[in-house]
Amino acid sequence: MDKATATIVCTQSSQVLATRLAEELALSLTPVIRRRFPDGEIYIQIEFSSLCTQTCKKVVLIGSTLTNEDIIELLLLIDACAEKEIILVLPYMGYTRQDQQFKPGESISARAIARALGARVSQVITVNIHKRTILSEFLVPAQNVSLATEIAAHIKTVVSADAKPLLLAPDKGAVGLIRDIALQGNYEYDYLSKQRVSGEEVIIESKTIPVAGRELVIIDDIISTGGTLATSAQMLIAQGAPLVHAICVHGVFIQGAYARLKQCGIGHLCSSDTIESAGSGYSAAPAIAQAIREVQ
Ligand code: R5P
Repeated sequence: MDKATATIVCTQSSQVLATRLAEELALSLTPVIRRRFPDGEIYIQIEFSSLCTQTCKKVVLIGSTLTNEDIIELLLLIDACAEKEIILVLPYMGYTRQDQQFKPGESISARAIARALGARVSQVITVNIHKRTILSEFLVPAQNVSLATEIAAHIKTVVSADAKPLLLAPDKGAVGLIRDIALQGNYEYDYLSKQRVSGEEVIIESKTIPVAGRELVIIDDIISTGGTLATSAQMLIAQGAPLVHAICVHGVFIQGAYARLKQCGIGHLCSSDTIESAGSGYSAAPAIAQAIREVQ
């Protein structure tokens, strides 16, 4: 894959990550014109160069789906690339937490979105997707990239030089990720047990962690309202933890979560750039680039 045969196209909300990915892969990032019709509908035009129009057979299309608008933009971009082979990169895929029917009549939202986005692309790459079972719902080859290596490397830049940090998963769902990170950095890890009461409220089962003199790093795939993290951190701080850091892959940070978490005593707090914000402390670009090289 080179500049003559492939290009990168991105949604508005993944422009920083797309730029980093273009540098990693030494590909061009093709500009997109976006306008809005008076009724709010979105207009998209990809400005393929005349050379690329003729020679680029492949498009790496990258866009996180944090908002409903992101999904519409991605669908329009897929349509605009219809004449090319599309590798769709979903750095953050929304709607994945509703991945089954909990009550009769509910939609399986993860399936609905995966089917829609996967319909006209040749491959899909996700990053730390909430559940790997969703990959089969794209109905095209799909693979998930884990940022465990990046997080393990980032932890080294955060904790004190001689610290032996303890990594903590706030629930069993994050244990796989944390185990991979712990293996890479030769860290100890443990996990907490979470019960979700509502979208905003969680109960963390009381557990005594050997926190004395330890720097703790809580790691989760997603921080959304910050409820999971705040409740976990408060319990650990009450047990005497001197320093609690938090790192996630996808920093959704709704309802002022970032500021609230810093206020409740979290030391270093960051996410990757799968959702771009000032809180993005490390990049998913190298891992995505590697996955793209491997599917070529
Ligand atoms: C849930 O299963 C996820 O792994 C996260 O723990 C959850 O999305 C975090 O949400 P919040 O920040 O709203 O507690």
